[in-house]
Amino acid sequence: MSDIRSAPRRALITGGASGFGLAIAAALLRAGALVAIGDISAERLQDAARSFEGGELLAVELDVRSPASAAAAVAACEARFGGLDTLVNSAGVIAFNPLAQISEAEWDHVLDVDLKGTFLCSQAAAPLLCASGRGRIVNIGSDASKVGFPMLAHYCAAKFGVVGLTKVLAGELAPHQVTVNCVCPVGVSGTGMGQEVLDWKIGATGMQPQEILAATAADIPLQRNPTVEDIVNAVLFLISDGAAFLTGLALDVDGGMLSTIPVPGVEG
Ligand SMILES: NC(=O)c1ccc[n+]([C@@H]2O[C@H](COP(=O)([O-])OP(=O)(O)OC[C@H]3O[C@@H](n4cnc5c(N)ncnc54)[C@H](O)[C@@H]3O)[C@@H](O)[C@H]2O)c1
Repeated sequence: MSDIRSAPRRALITGGASGFGLAIAAALLRAGALVAIGDISAERLQDAARSFEGGELLAVELDVRSPASAAAAVAACEARFGGLDTLVNSAGVIAFNPLAQISEAEWDHVLDVDLKGTFLCSQAAAPLLCASGRGRIVNIGSDASKVGFPMLAHYCAAKFGVVGLTKVLAGELAPHQVTVNCVCPVGVSGTGMGQEVLDWKIGATGMQPQEILAATAADIPLQRNPTVEDIVNAVLFLISDGAAFLTGLALDVDGGMLSTIPVPGVEG
């Protein structure tokens, strides 16, 4: 990531107080970037800011569902950094329910945070990203951006939408040298949402956490579960100068899971 160090990036990470967002912020800071984390949780923001004491970290309260809040977060970045060239849309929520039991409020909440929030933050940041002449948007999608999972009608609809939005914005912003890509991870247990998913699976199956993790690893061609670092590496690559000619991608970070189907009874 030497290119990030030689030309420091000015980045806003939504959902940056936890999970992938926090790990991406830490990696960018280590690479010499100026980093803002935006999150709805004031408490997590404070904890995150404390853990980076001494680093160039700006912590801003942000509700990605609100255009005014998105605009204020971008303005805070402009005031502190003199501009913005990188936006990572990582804020997200999940909920599990069968079709018949998803209330309108639950549907709206998931769509508002996961899809509308990505739209609103991209819209707010776009003028500064374009002005930078080297803009980057990286959206965090999911394997649920590519495959339908039972109990996740709203989450899948939102995450498929994030891929669509990625491709549209890639085309619209390309003339301004802004690339727009999406990273689509399979389940990672070491984050807030990863733990939520694991807890749901424990409740739904009665299995022990280790049994569940072993079963999910066995379904992945590379035979292990992903780490937070696997996701961070993909995001950092898409932000790097080396990825300047890549746009509109929805990159699976899944150990090959969505690319190959095992033949029953045939190994290797
Ligand atoms: N962990 C996984 O298994 C997994 C897999 C695929 C995709 N994802 C996606 O990765 C992204 C990050 O999730 P994570 O696993 O790091 O979970 P996480 O819960 O650790 O982080 C999500 C963050 O988003 C914040 N947030 C929620 N609503 C918000 C709002 N309205 N405005 C601003 N911030 C808000 C939360 O406070 C939290 O800090 C999400 O978009 C999620 O859908 C996660």
